[in-house]
Amino acid sequence: MIPHPVLENRYSKPEERPAYVKQLFNEGAEHYDPVVGWGFFGTGKLYRKDAQRRHGLAPGMKLLDVASGTGLMAVAAKEVLGSDQDITCVEPSDGMIGVAKKKLNATFVQSGAESMPLPDDTYDFLTVGYALRHFADLETTFIEFHRVLKSGGKVLILEATRPDGKWGSFLFRLYFGRIYPFFSRVLTRSKKAEEMMVYFWETMDSCVRPAEVQAALSQAGFTEVKRTALMGVFSEYTAVKP
Ligand SMILES: C[S@@+](CC[C@H](N)C(=O)[O-])C[C@H]1O[C@@H](n2cnc3c(N)ncnc32)[C@H](O)[C@@H]1O
Repeated sequence: MIPHPVLENRYSKPEERPAYVKQLFNEGAEHYDPVVGWGFFGTGKLYRKDAQRRHGLAPGMKLLDVASGTGLMAVAAKEVLGSDQDITCVEPSDGMIGVAKKKLNATFVQSGAESMPLPDDTYDFLTVGYALRHFADLETTFIEFHRVLKSGGKVLILEATRPDGKWGSFLFRLYFGRIYPFFSRVLTRSKKAEEMMVYFWETMDSCVRPAEVQAALSQAGFTEVKRTALMGVFSEYTAVKP
């Protein structure tokens, strides 16, 4: 199951997508933290940490953070775990990894999520922050998550979801489609930062709906598949490897 259809204004075939996305994040990497900090009113770290705690991340666990970007999920997890020695970050963009390495002493693996050079049955907890939309195929990727998790291991996927209602959807579109990209450019004076946020919006707008994400997790063999959503927008998907 692909998370969104081909965006013809960006690339013409599905196989062109990874290279397009990698270049986009390489070029936007230096701007990612300031733009995300501004766009979520400085709440990003607190929210990520709170979500990790609420869903059971605890000291002593081995954590895999997939699509780790500049390390925002991993930096939050370091505070929950008390150290970054048991954190592994998987990320395809060298630009994003470069920024993350300045903040973390974790293990970094440059790879896409769909096929990771990692051993079976190894991690207690696996996180994904705002990257579900970039995976080539949800089911394939979730099967890979299932492979690397220990039995009883948990997945936590955070994602911004377009709300269903007319007004909620209108405000979401206005903020993420117009206001956020515009101010990203003003703040950073970078067209690349604006492009990254426009792409962020386009992929959110065209993303499969929550029921399909949950179905893909179940198809991959996970149980206790759940979604909670703050304000109908900030989705938290959880699932357990039996
Ligand atoms: C919006 S950033 C999220 C970064 C971080 N997780 C956070 O919470 O802020 C999305 C990240 O997904 C990465 N990404 C894109 N395609 C990917 C793939 N196929 N597998 C794993 N990561 C991917 C991008 O390079 C980028 O760093």
